[in-house]
Amino acid sequence: MALTLCVIGASGFLGSHVVAQALAKGHKVRAVMRNPDDVTKTSWLMKLYKAEGNLTFHAGDLDQLGSFDEAIKGSEAVVVCAFPETPSEPKLIETVRGGALHILKSCTDHGVKTIVLTSSGGSTNPKEGEPPVKNEMDHWSDPDYQISQGKYSPAAKTLMDQAALQYGKDHPELRVVVLNPNLIMGPMFQPDLPAKGSLNMLLSILKRERLDKIPNGSMSIIDVRDLAALELAAVENPHAAGRYFGVLRSFHWKEIMEAIHEVHPEFEVPPVGYEGDDVRPTQFDHSRKESLGVKLRDLKTILHDAINDLKARKLL
Ligand SMILES: *[C@@H]1O[C@H](CO)[C@@H](O)[C@H](O)[C@H]1NC(C)=O
Ligand SMILES: *[C@@H]1O[C@H](CO)[C@@H](O)[C@H](O)[C@H]1NC(C)=O
Repeated sequence: MALTLCVIGASGFLGSHVVAQALAKGHKVRAVMRNPDDVTKTSWLMKLYKAEGNLTFHAGDLDQLGSFDEAIKGSEAVVVCAFPETPSEPKLIETVRGGALHILKSCTDHGVKTIVLTSSGGSTNPKEGEPPVKNEMDHWSDPDYQISQGKYSPAAKTLMDQAALQYGKDHPELRVVVLNPNLIMGPMFQPDLPAKGSLNMLLSILKRERLDKIPNGSMSIIDVRDLAALELAAVENPHAAGRYFGVLRSFHWKEIMEAIHEVHPEFEVPPVGYEGDDVRPTQFDHSRKESLGVKLRDLKTILHDAINDLKARKLL
């Protein structure tokens, strides 16, 4: 069923994948960004398959109540990929939580039926430490504790999830879905590699500019194309509501480094930087995520395709 879909943060890493997949599926897309008159943000989106006649650009600013009205009016569903991961500063809390509430109000004012918000796994980490198996319904971060630790970015996501789910309870005519990813990897549509981001981080690991020793840590990863597919599946599934992990699973850094070496043998696995037991990667209850029916790429495919993108850009 073809929909009119509003994608907020459309010129970003994830947002542009949501736009591309939505167009390919035959949806009409209203792409929202801070400055839609900036052709460096729109010209490459206009080259996507089926963009001509199906993609329009609109302005919106998280800090401005009502600024999304024009873009959202006439949309059946809204996907939000606009919340900054960095920098972590106190002001971010109002931008993220307040921005989500601005968008939610525009949705109910204009009869939108569905909203999917991209949050972070940083809102699902109990203060008491990791449970044996983490699930989206029971496990919440403590925002006051996060703020006391200076972790404003994950605190903002925790407060955003709470506010968005409460808004959904108060407005049952709007179906509210939240996706909680951690590290998002994969090929990019953007013509230029941003100064920060996961491909940049991968590039610095490959060049041995960071993680010259394997740390005792783990990382939860998903391919950007699969996260976009999960978000569109949540739009299209009338029963989807509430939080969903946006992760393939969590991997120890040893496993990640070995997978990089397998897909890119020029990369030598760095030495292990500690002696003793390995941290246990976070264990997730995958059932809600799997109910969305998206087959996720495995770790080697994710790394292979991300590394190929760096090679195609002649950065490697
Ligand atoms: C716009 O989308 C419709 C529906 O998928 C499609 O038939 C049409 O070819 C698209 N326009 C272009 C220029 O691809
Ligand atoms: C690795 O991390 C885990 C979990 O924090 C800890 O139990 C283990 O002792 C650590 N190993 C080393 C060698 O520090």
